[in-house]
Amino acid sequence: MTAPVRVIVVGGGCRGEGHSHYASIHPERMQVVAVADPRKFARSKFQKQHKILEENIFEDWHAVVEREKFADAVLICTPDRLHKEPAVAFAKKGYHILLEKPMATTAEDCTAIVEVCIQSGVMLSVGHVLRYDPLIHKIKELIDAGVIGDVFHIQHLEPVGFYHFAHSYVRGNWRNEAESSFALLAKSCHDIDLIHHWAGARRRGYFTVSSFGSVSHFNKENKPPGAADRCLNCSVERDCPYSACKIYLDGVKKGHTGWPVSVICPNSFPDIESVTEALKTGPYGRCVYECDNDVCSNQVVNMQFEGGLTAAFSMVAFTEEICQRKTTIYGSKGELYYNGREIRVFDFLTQRATKHTADTNTPGQFFMSGHGGADYHLIHAFISAVANNDPSLIRSGPEETLLSHLLVFEAERSRLESRVVHCGDTKHN
Ligand SMILES: NC(=O)c1ccc[n+]([C@@H]2O[C@H](COP(=O)([O-])OP(=O)(O)OC[C@H]3O[C@@H](n4cnc5c(N)ncnc54)[C@H](O)[C@@H]3O)[C@@H](O)[C@H]2O)c1
Repeated sequence: MTAPVRVIVVGGGCRGEGHSHYASIHPERMQVVAVADPRKFARSKFQKQHKILEENIFEDWHAVVEREKFADAVLICTPDRLHKEPAVAFAKKGYHILLEKPMATTAEDCTAIVEVCIQSGVMLSVGHVLRYDPLIHKIKELIDAGVIGDVFHIQHLEPVGFYHFAHSYVRGNWRNEAESSFALLAKSCHDIDLIHHWAGARRRGYFTVSSFGSVSHFNKENKPPGAADRCLNCSVERDCPYSACKIYLDGVKKGHTGWPVSVICPNSFPDIESVTEALKTGPYGRCVYECDNDVCSNQVVNMQFEGGLTAAFSMVAFTEEICQRKTTIYGSKGELYYNGREIRVFDFLTQRATKHTADTNTPGQFFMSGHGGADYHLIHAFISAVANNDPSLIRSGPEETLLSHLLVFEAERSRLESRVVHCGDTKHN
């Protein structure tokens, strides 16, 4: 039996903690040997859960890279703007890397990370978790098997969810581009990556992209008359679907302490007292019409790849579904529809529809991750790749992921400059 893969967790927040459940389920495959996080609460939780030696508990990632290499891999789960520096430093030290998405917040930084990983001969897996979703993987298999013939159009919707958007993109960590990244990168890099993936070989040459979007609704102009700056003392809170009292306090009163309630109490376990205090003083108690948010709440991206393949992507905040993507892929022989739960393929020749499912069961707490268990498959693939020294097990590797990130940056350029952007062939620029 081989020894477990030793990992260091850099950023012991939601994602770092989530990936680390794998070590609790499969201690023979992965061992968390160190954690770096400025939050004492997070460090203590990790130390207790994974029995980490005192000398391997760090307040910051810099101190980890200063030490001789003492693990096989690092899971980089720091905030968006803190990805490039640790990724480059750990790659240079020879650590294999699971890097949360987005890789970095500029195209130059993404490129630099990939270059250093290649030069250092380390594996890089980016947290494009949807690539590991068994149903989404099945879509790719069906396309590659020619079930719908040549693909000519992809229509893809990302419904963020009304309270999810208010939580993460109006009040929370991804609300402000200068602090994190623009919405298409922070939220939809997964989706542009999937479109890119499904487009297959036709994405490699010349392509054009256009995009529109803005921050709708969540601004001062839409603040209801009489609304207060905080929900706890707002007289019209009852009529507001985005009320923090409804999203967090009602949840914890019913005993719900997972996401999103867990996020708003970063230094303690959530209970009625700590959640009330967070709403009184913290960012999550603010009126959604009085925040410093500037990221798009709805955005569309149109793409044209080689051979006339077109794709239309929409991201919308104002939805009932939370992140349950819907996709239709139109080919010369059939139409494929995916609703997050199953895939339906209609064959033009037989005029029959076939349904496809996949085993989405996952062990432990991974089923609660919000990604249909795909988080389990992401970390499982990474650990297997490291254990077997086989990068082919990683579906979100450096080159692929860099190309799809670059497409995201070009789409955002189109939105900001109000023009169609031509890529991959300078004579069109
Ligand atoms: N793959 C996905 O589907 C997915 C989903 C959500 C978030 N993310 C991404 O994962 C990353 C982490 O998100 P999260 O939700 O876990 O955020 P989080 O805020 O819960 O966790 C980030 C952690 O990094 C820590 N940190 C800050 N500075 C640090 C430093 N110098 N050294 C070490 N740790 C430091 C913070 O204290 C915090 O605990 C982000 O880039 C986010 O965009 C990916």
